[in-house]
Amino acid sequence: MATRAKVLVTRPIMEAPTARLRERCDVTIDRNDFGIPRDDLLQKVAGSDALITMLTERVDADLLAAAGPQLKIVANHAVGFDNVNLEDCTAAGVMASNTPDVLTETTADTAFALLMAASRRVGEGERFLRAGTPWIWGPLMMLGQDVHHKTMGIVGFGRIGQAVARRAKGFGMDVVYSDAFPLPPAVEAETGARRVELDDLLERADFVSIHTNLTPETRHLFGAEQFKRMKETAVLVNTSRGPVVDEAALANALESGEIFAAGLDVFEREPEVHPKLVQLDNAVVIPHLGSATVDTRDAMGHLAVDNVFAALDGDRPPTLLNPDVLR
Ligand code: DGY
Repeated sequence: MATRAKVLVTRPIMEAPTARLRERCDVTIDRNDFGIPRDDLLQKVAGSDALITMLTERVDADLLAAAGPQLKIVANHAVGFDNVNLEDCTAAGVMASNTPDVLTETTADTAFALLMAASRRVGEGERFLRAGTPWIWGPLMMLGQDVHHKTMGIVGFGRIGQAVARRAKGFGMDVVYSDAFPLPPAVEAETGARRVELDDLLERADFVSIHTNLTPETRHLFGAEQFKRMKETAVLVNTSRGPVVDEAALANALESGEIFAAGLDVFEREPEVHPKLVQLDNAVVIPHLGSATVDTRDAMGHLAVDNVFAALDGDRPPTLLNPDVLR
């Protein structure tokens, strides 16, 4: 009988993809609620044929060496792969994959939820009522900013940025975007968005939603200077990666009223949140829930498993990140 492949999954994933994996592989699932400690991870990977990793694990040469030469694939259970060193994977002859597309619409929904909550002071209103604060309806009470027919600025116009643009169009918003590359005219026509320089976007937009990857170029793309350029009524939304924003500078901008509010799903030193941000009423903060729905997490799990099975079968994984490894 052929030996079954060994797969380590670093956090529990949804039931259906787990069951598929168990049908053909020997599966070890780490169940540490706070993520697998690095030392444990380096021990537990030994002898694995495939790994399903989370955005919380660093995938680098040390990890790949600890796994051993039989390792075929690291299937990251996330669209973002800033935790995966692709060069190290390619050098070790290991395929790497992510989970794009299946979470696009869900993450765009989250961005919009944060945008609405921050502009209309939903979190603040909730805390106010839950604290039992005495109140009566008043014409000047907790005034927010309108969303409809305002200008939406999208920074990073990939799949998720475009899905946010389509939502903005439905709200009658004017949409501008900044990206290293102009999108084909058909995409611009369909999303109703036009490309501008980042500084221009910051000055015009009532809402700025960040959808860039985290790279050395985008780390702290948003800092004191960018907040100064933004309108005092502007709302910033970040569902990409925390380090794209200088969190201390953002806390200062929110505290001083340089911008109106922020809706944040991701943080610079996750899982830590800057202590000022949790105190500020104009910061809506949620714990990295961008893709956290039942359907989407199912789809992400299945895609990670599809990638693992393809690699084990000697096929090209459907969402391979380092095709050079096949040369
Ligand atoms: C991702 O996939 O990169 C998100 O941040 C988590 O789903």
